[in-house]
Amino acid sequence: MLAVHFDKPGGPENLYLKEVAKPSPVESEVLLKVAASALNRADLLQRQGQYPPPPGASSILGLEASGHIAALGPACQGHWKIGDPVMVLLPGGGQAQYVTVPEGLLMPIPAGLTLSQAAAIPEAWLTAFQLLHLLGHVQAGDSVLIHAGSSGVGTAAIQLARMAGAIPLVTAGSQHKLQMAEKLGAAAGFNYKEEDFSEATLKFTKVQANAGGGFHKTDSAPLLHGEPTTSSAGFGQSLPRDCDPRGPC
Ligand SMILES: NC(=O)c1ccc[n+]([C@@H]2O[C@H](COP(=O)([O-])OP(=O)(O)OC[C@H]3O[C@@H](n4cnc5c(N)ncnc54)[C@H](OP(=O)(O)O)[C@@H]3O)[C@@H](O)[C@H]2O)c1
Repeated sequence: MLAVHFDKPGGPENLYLKEVAKPSPVESEVLLKVAASALNRADLLQRQGQYPPPPGASSILGLEASGHIAALGPACQGHWKIGDPVMVLLPGGGQAQYVTVPEGLLMPIPAGLTLSQAAAIPEAWLTAFQLLHLLGHVQAGDSVLIHAGSSGVGTAAIQLARMAGAIPLVTAGSQHKLQMAEKLGAAAGFNYKEEDFSEATLKFTKVQANAGGGFHKTDSAPLLHGEPTTSSAGFGQSLPRDCDPRGPC
């Protein structure tokens, strides 16, 4: 089979298609015939030699993919059958014609998504979902500060925050990125290279509170407190949820 390959770390000019051995599913793995794979920051870092794959993982790039099941390992439990369309988060190997995956990692493709769209869901969107909902417990009406609002994870988080009825605020490093974030639903954006975003967020929330209520008044209280969410994706923190928007927090 063909796979995206590089012989030495560097830029995209080092990438080429190489004939490599087609993997075979063992135990409860399935063989996925890849339709699409997406590109994430971690792929770029791996290509530059700064993010080696975890021990035992494929050295082929590609941390997510979509496609159809082409073969089942001998210990598969019958949850999936050959030909099923699926999407999957991978430790590597997605940028190839085939990849093997433990069947427990397979996810059905949500209705209405193409295979190409589905290939871009697992890394950015599920990470954003995890940060917002499993760690941040975001509720309707919460203000959520999203750093790197134009990143893959950030753009997903903006849209998921809106879907939850929350108010996404973003930081980004350029005006162009802020405009993109605002088009996706960010209520406001702050260029951290040009202004102190905590100061700017404070101003924003005061203005909105004065304009029509519904936002947290922050006054001189610390801007970001409440339960912090921590993650390697560099996500921010929810503004306090126990704050009465009609009074000072
Ligand atoms: N834990 C997980 O499961 C998980 C999953 C997915 C992603 N991640 C992590 O989440 C982060 C975002 O991933 P992504 O794929 O969404 O990234 P991306 O689309 O490549 O965006 C990265 C953003 O980070 C900002 N940035 C700040 N310093 C940077 C630097 N030195 N080099 C490059 N970008 C820099 C840039 O925005 P500004 O210019 O606005 O600062 C850039 O737009 C990465 O660190 C990634 O490894 C973690």
